[in-house]
Amino acid sequence: MRMVDVIIKKRDGGELTKEEIEFFVDGYTKGEIPDYQASALTMAIYFKGMTQEETATLTQAMVDSGETIDLSAIHGHIVDKHSTGGVGDKVTFIVGPLVASAGVPVAKMSGRGLGHTGGTLDKLEAVKGLQIEMTKDEFIENVNTHKLAVAGQTGNLAPADKKLYALRDVTGTVNSLPLIAGSIMSKKLASGADSIVLDVKTGSGAFMKTLEDSEALAREMVNIGNNLGRNTVAVISDMNQPLGFEVGNANEIREAAEILQGKKVEDLRELSLEIASHMTVLAEVFATYEEAYAALEKNLENGKAFEAFRNFIEAQHGDTSMIDDLSLLPKAAYEIEVKADRGGYVAEIDAESIGVAAMYLGAGRATKDDIINHGVGITLNKKIGDPVRAGEALVVLHSDNEQAEDSIQKVKEAYQITDDKVDTPTLIHKVIK
Ligand code: URA
Repeated sequence: MRMVDVIIKKRDGGELTKEEIEFFVDGYTKGEIPDYQASALTMAIYFKGMTQEETATLTQAMVDSGETIDLSAIHGHIVDKHSTGGVGDKVTFIVGPLVASAGVPVAKMSGRGLGHTGGTLDKLEAVKGLQIEMTKDEFIENVNTHKLAVAGQTGNLAPADKKLYALRDVTGTVNSLPLIAGSIMSKKLASGADSIVLDVKTGSGAFMKTLEDSEALAREMVNIGNNLGRNTVAVISDMNQPLGFEVGNANEIREAAEILQGKKVEDLRELSLEIASHMTVLAEVFATYEEAYAALEKNLENGKAFEAFRNFIEAQHGDTSMIDDLSLLPKAAYEIEVKADRGGYVAEIDAESIGVAAMYLGAGRATKDDIINHGVGITLNKKIGDPVRAGEALVVLHSDNEQAEDSIQKVKEAYQITDDKVDTPTLIHKVIK
């Protein structure tokens, strides 16, 4: 087989066979197919698309390019959760313990953050001493004992995707539906869960800005998961503003812990219950979504979900005194209010700009080697739909720099205030099964 023929076939709108896709993925991973041919093919896919079958084949070939994690030593039906990324997205810290409190094992492998979205591991490390490096045996033992463990990704999972993603990043081919769907799902499938719930974000702070594109991505990923033998559900949720009120590492852990203690932060609690309900139904612990939702809501009220969170922190050597007394979590030196220039109603909060403002404070990384400051972050006092008076604080910056002018500027750019009343955005747009 010649790679040039595979490129020409896709360029002309043809459907690639299993052999052709496997030839490409295998050859590219081994370095036998050069970057220029791989970029030509990804560009052809960008313009001509892929059928569901081609996308599933591509995904499976990327899974097969590396190791897969064998979690069969974990007792029970393992459900994973993945978010396509947002600002203030601390849902994992709520959903993990919540699902664990219903007896469903959660074995989560997570990454670090880059750019305007934070990483799960970085946020967890706001808790002093917390270890995310562990052996596979420790990981499995923690899940079997506490029903929840979160670890850094180990092993060589989907190396074809790693190589291809880096190439797409510099060749203008990231934004192709089958390529994004295959990329995300190959890593999920290699991580060994039995079922998967996807939180597909939509809106200004999301990868997919329109509901139509988000729905198409969600459908593509659900099809891949189901075609490859994992029950998959996607929840399309709003990312037209940050989730909850806190952005930053310690800030987000604090807010998640408060929800687990029964605090009612509407959007965050609602989305967490939605995702956790689908996860426990997929695990067949509850027969219906409604039954799951009611039982999980109870676990937020009766302390069971918080207990699961505390046990998980303790098992991973985190300082539980910081969880028992959330004021002990890292804190920045200064609190700086960013005030509204005018009165009215909050019409928009560009989530990406808030993420960048937090990154400027040191909560995220502009480059791979930057060091995270766990104590800095942003508290939103106002969300979309809220009335605001001129001079009232829109946000509080938690900063180690007394000035923080670039963050103040970014926050000001993020907020749009209008005279007319504004509705609160819909949080959950659709569920795709
Ligand atoms: N995230 C991924 O892992 N892959 C993509 O292609 C896009 C986002």
